[in-house]
Amino acid sequence: MTRSIPKQQLTDTAETVLERRYYLKDAEGKPLENWETLCRRVSNAVAQVDLDQPDYEGLADRFFTMIYYLDFLPNSPCLMNAGTDLGQLSACFVLPVEDSMDGIFTSIRNGALVHKTGGGTGYSFSRLRPKNSAVQSTQGVASGPLSFAAVFDAATETIKQGGKRRGANMGVLRVDHPDILEFIVAKQDQTRYTNFNFSVAITDLFMEAVKNDQEYDLIDPSNGDIIRTLRAREVFDKIVDLAWHNGEPGVLFIDAANRDNTTPQLGKFEATNPCGEQWLLPYESCNLGSINLGQYVKNGKVDWERLGATARLAVRFLDNVIDCNRFPIPEIAEMTQKTRKVGLGIMGLHDMLIQLELPYGSEEGRQAAAEVMAFVRTEAEAASIELATMKGPFPAYDERFNTYPARRNAALTSIQPTGTVSMIADCASGCEPYFSIVMIKNVMDNDRLLMVNKLFERIARAEGFYSAELMEKVAKSGTVIGHAAIPKRWQEIFRTAQDISPEQHIRMQGVLQKNGVDSSISKTINLPSSATQDDVRTAYMLGFELGCKGLTVYRDGSRDHQVLNTVASS
Ligand code: CDP
Repeated sequence: MTRSIPKQQLTDTAETVLERRYYLKDAEGKPLENWETLCRRVSNAVAQVDLDQPDYEGLADRFFTMIYYLDFLPNSPCLMNAGTDLGQLSACFVLPVEDSMDGIFTSIRNGALVHKTGGGTGYSFSRLRPKNSAVQSTQGVASGPLSFAAVFDAATETIKQGGKRRGANMGVLRVDHPDILEFIVAKQDQTRYTNFNFSVAITDLFMEAVKNDQEYDLIDPSNGDIIRTLRAREVFDKIVDLAWHNGEPGVLFIDAANRDNTTPQLGKFEATNPCGEQWLLPYESCNLGSINLGQYVKNGKVDWERLGATARLAVRFLDNVIDCNRFPIPEIAEMTQKTRKVGLGIMGLHDMLIQLELPYGSEEGRQAAAEVMAFVRTEAEAASIELATMKGPFPAYDERFNTYPARRNAALTSIQPTGTVSMIADCASGCEPYFSIVMIKNVMDNDRLLMVNKLFERIARAEGFYSAELMEKVAKSGTVIGHAAIPKRWQEIFRTAQDISPEQHIRMQGVLQKNGVDSSISKTINLPSSATQDDVRTAYMLGFELGCKGLTVYRDGSRDHQVLNTVASS
């Protein structure tokens, strides 16, 4: 018998998203689930792993409560597939691409199998020999990373992820690969490589050469030969120029990532997952989940106790997911079980800051965000250490190489885009500020619906400055700034992505990275359409100095179809 519980009200948008993509359906496409039964399916399946543990009793209910009331949501594949025959629950995979025909097409095959189950893949093409170099066996010439990337792209195009979302890939090329110039401009034509995000893996050596205006070497990865040298500033300017034009390529700071590699004995990071927040070794996968921070403010203060409890339970949940996951290929199962990485993230950071009455772009806002992220990380680690006592540390843990305390998971935190799960939870995505406060939605011919941010509406009504007329004005201007009817301090607190300076965006990413993020952060650095190439250059430099592990810039209006997050929104 099921107990009756207070009902969680979801927004219409959340219900629509769930109905379209998450609820299991019958043969006619009629949903067989609702939010409550979906949450039961997921929690029961994930709790089942602990059947033999002394605290099994009640664990499924604890998972259920955390998910059903939107305190924490696991990544989409887990919500969609837990407790089903498909059973693939992870969002992120990195697959190696070896420099041979067999290696390349094995990788394409493995990628297809990952996409089929709803996962996204990251590939580094840096090991492939450059275009036009010799191929011994056929005495021909090599096609090079970009023409192979086109094959990966075509394969992705034909496979919908688990039938539910488009395939998503990250394609990485090291800045010292001989084909780097071709790679930088490859996505200038926006009709090509549409299933990929492209990022240049930038080294510290390269950044030094940029600063000192020196040349650097391009190296053939197949034999270590120096093919030519380039002026680092010219290459950097090219990356900046293209990113200024349409946001791609992104940059990944690969040495910063490898300094934080918790299992260097197993290999080096070469690539991230599609949205950039998770660095993984070849064949590793990672399941993600995010705490909805807006739920943790009580009487204007952070409810630390409840937040800590959620972070600990979320780690238990994510760790269990590894054991009830059906991995698409044996190599992935083996690597994932060796390191047991999880990606605990946050969403609704902006909702939290608004309730704390701190502007996102302010020093105080950053301090609060840093404190919360560091706390989540500390609690997550404590939970992982406890799990190691209960079930053993991750199998690759080795005291000779790993100086940190034995824990269950080689990596614990990353900040995801939460493109769809934040829609279910009705909060600002990941660590991003809101993109708009009031929007007008055209429903029928002439019917227009005002969509007002829930926190803004509550405050505006409580303080008596709410009016339909004002909301129309805010929607039209796209900002709360400059409307005399809105008190100045609320204007500051409700600044949106475009009202926050690029520097403030980067500084937020930087403090979060430094304070509690093991892997990386998916974040867009918004620039106004008037921003110059110099602004982009300054942004990259600052991100590098602050220890960010990657950056994505987006200049307002610079893509044909403006999207918040290309892969996540598909
Ligand atoms: O909100 P949701 O769980 O759907 O995903 P997200 O936080 O927006 O994205 C997390 C990760 O899921 C991305 O970094 C990708 O690795 C993967 N993803 C994907 O494979 N395909 C998509 N269409 C969207 C996300």
